Amino acid sequence: MDLIKDIDIITAEEAQACDYKTTTDENTGKTKKLYIESYGCQMNFADSEIVASIMKENGFDTTSDFLQADVIFLNTCSIREKAELTVRKRLTDFQRAKKAKPELTIGVLGCMAERLKENLLQEEKIVDVVVGPDAYRDLPNLVSAAEDGQKGVNTFLSREETYADIAPVRLNSNGVTAFISIMRGCDNMCSFCVVPFTRGRERSRDPHSIVAEAQDLFSKGYKEVTLLGQNVDSYKWSPEENNKARLNKKEEEVTQVVNFAHLLEMVAQVSPYLRVRFSTSHPKDITDEVLHTMKKYDNICKYIHLPVQSGNSRMLDLMNRTYDREWYLNRVTAIREILGEECGISSDMITGFCTETEEEHQDTLSLMDIVKFDFSYMFFYSERPGTLAAKKFEDDIPLEIKKRRLAEVITKQAELSSERNKLDFGQEQLILIEGTAKKSDQQLRGRNSANKVVIIPADHAKKGDYVRVKIIEVSQATLFGEVLEVNPILL
Ligand code: SAH
Ligand code: SF4
Ligand code: F3S
Repeated sequence: MDLIKDIDIITAEEAQACDYKTTTDENTGKTKKLYIESYGCQMNFADSEIVASIMKENGFDTTSDFLQADVIFLNTCSIREKAELTVRKRLTDFQRAKKAKPELTIGVLGCMAERLKENLLQEEKIVDVVVGPDAYRDLPNLVSAAEDGQKGVNTFLSREETYADIAPVRLNSNGVTAFISIMRGCDNMCSFCVVPFTRGRERSRDPHSIVAEAQDLFSKGYKEVTLLGQNVDSYKWSPEENNKARLNKKEEEVTQVVNFAHLLEMVAQVSPYLRVRFSTSHPKDITDEVLHTMKKYDNICKYIHLPVQSGNSRMLDLMNRTYDREWYLNRVTAIREILGEECGISSDMITGFCTETEEEHQDTLSLMDIVKFDFSYMFFYSERPGTLAAKKFEDDIPLEIKKRRLAEVITKQAELSSERNKLDFGQEQLILIEGTAKKSDQQLRGRNSANKVVIIPADHAKKGDYVRVKIIEVSQATLFGEVLEVNPILL
C-alpha cells in the first residue's frame, strides 16, 4: 500500500496525465518571450496552443526556459486537490525568477483561475493576472496593464466563445498527431466534478472551422487528429446557431443540424490518410449512429474512451451520471456488436466516492471483468469545493480505504490490460509512427487503431509513416511488431 501513498492517480498512461507540458523554443524575431506550463486534460493543452497564438499576434515568441521569459503563464487544472497543490508549489519556484527580474509578469490561467478568481491575487502574491478559459482574447490587454503595474482578473464565462477563428500554435508537436477542440464547457452535472463550474456551459464549434483545421493540419503533414470535448457525443451545431454566427459571411450554409456522427464523417472525409480519434464519449449519449460511422470509415480509429466511474448503480446515481450499470453494459454490447472485439475501450474510475460500501466497490471490479477495458485512468475520490457532492454528501470514506480500493482497481486493470494485449499477438495491424521509442533510438513508436503503443525496429520506417506490422511480442503496456509493409495504399 505504501507504493501509492502520495499519488492519487496511477496508470500506465498515467504519470503523463498529472505531468505538465511546457512551451518549446520558437524564435521568429519577436521582441518578447512567453513561457507556458500546462496541466490537466488534453483540452487544457489545446487551450495553451490558442493562448500561444493570441500572444504571438501580440509580439511574443515562446521559450522552454522560464528564466528567459518576460511572461510566465501557468495553465491550471482543478479536477482533484492534488492538481491545485502542484500549481501552488510551482508558483513558489517562480518566485526566484521574479526576484531576479521584477518586471516579469506571472499569470494563472485555466480551471484553477476560474475557480478561485480574484482570491488568487490575495493568496499568491506573485501572481499578476488571473484569466479563465473563456477570456483568453483579453490576455494581451491584461498583460500590458500588468507591465504598467496593474494586476488584473478576467474570469468571465461565455456561452458563445469557441476560439473558432484562432489558428492554434502547435506546442510540443511531433508533427504527426494533433488535437482539435470541437466544443467547450460541459452541461452535465456529475456531482463529483468541478468542470461545469470552471469551463461553463457547453457549446459546439462551427463544423466548417473544424474541418478547415483538419485540412490545414493534413496539408502540413499531420496524419492524425483527435477531436476533443468533455462529452463529444452531445456535439450539436444547428442552422440557427450557424446563421447567427455567419450573418455577414458568404461561406457555405449549414442547412441541417450537425451532430457528432455527421461531424466525424465530415472530418473522416478529409483524407483516408488522416486518422481520426475523439475523446471523451459519455455512456449516456454515445449513439449507434456514431458506432456505425466509425465502422464505415477505416480511418476513424476503433477506440472509445468511455468512462464508467463506478460499476454500481447506486453510486452512479449519487454521482449523477444519469445511466446505470445495465445501461453501460448495453452500450458496451452495442460496441462489440457493431465494431467487434478488436475495438479498444478504456475508462476512468473513481474509488471511495461518498458512502461507497465494500460490495459496491466489488461491483466496479466485476464490471471491469465483464467489459475487459484495455486500459483505465484510475483515481480515488477527491472532494472539490462547490460541487454537488461537496454540498450534499459527506466525504466519509477514509483515505486508506479509498487508496486500498484504488490499488485493487489498478491491480485488476493490469491483469485485464495483459489479457487484452495477448489477443493482439500474431495479428496484422496498421500503425502510424509518432517518433522514436522512449527506451531506444534504435526503435520507433507507433499506435494501432485501438490506441495501443506498438514498437518496431527503426531501420525500415520514419516518423509519419503508416506501417503494416505483425505483432510478435506483447507486454502489459506495449506491443512489439515486425514490419510487413511501409506506407501501404489505404484507399
Ligand atoms: N468529461 C469526462 C471526464 C473529465 S474529468 C467524462 O465525463 O468522462 C476526467 C476524470 O477525472 C473523470 O472521468 C473522473 O474519473 C476524474 N475525476 C473528476 N472529478 C474527480 C474528483 N472529484 N475526484 C476524483 N476523480 C475525479
Ligand atoms: Fe465532469 Fe461529468 Fe462533465 Fe465529465 S461529463 S466533465 S465528469 S461534469
Ligand atoms: Fe482539469 Fe479543467 Fe481539464 S479541471 S481536467 S483542466 S477541464
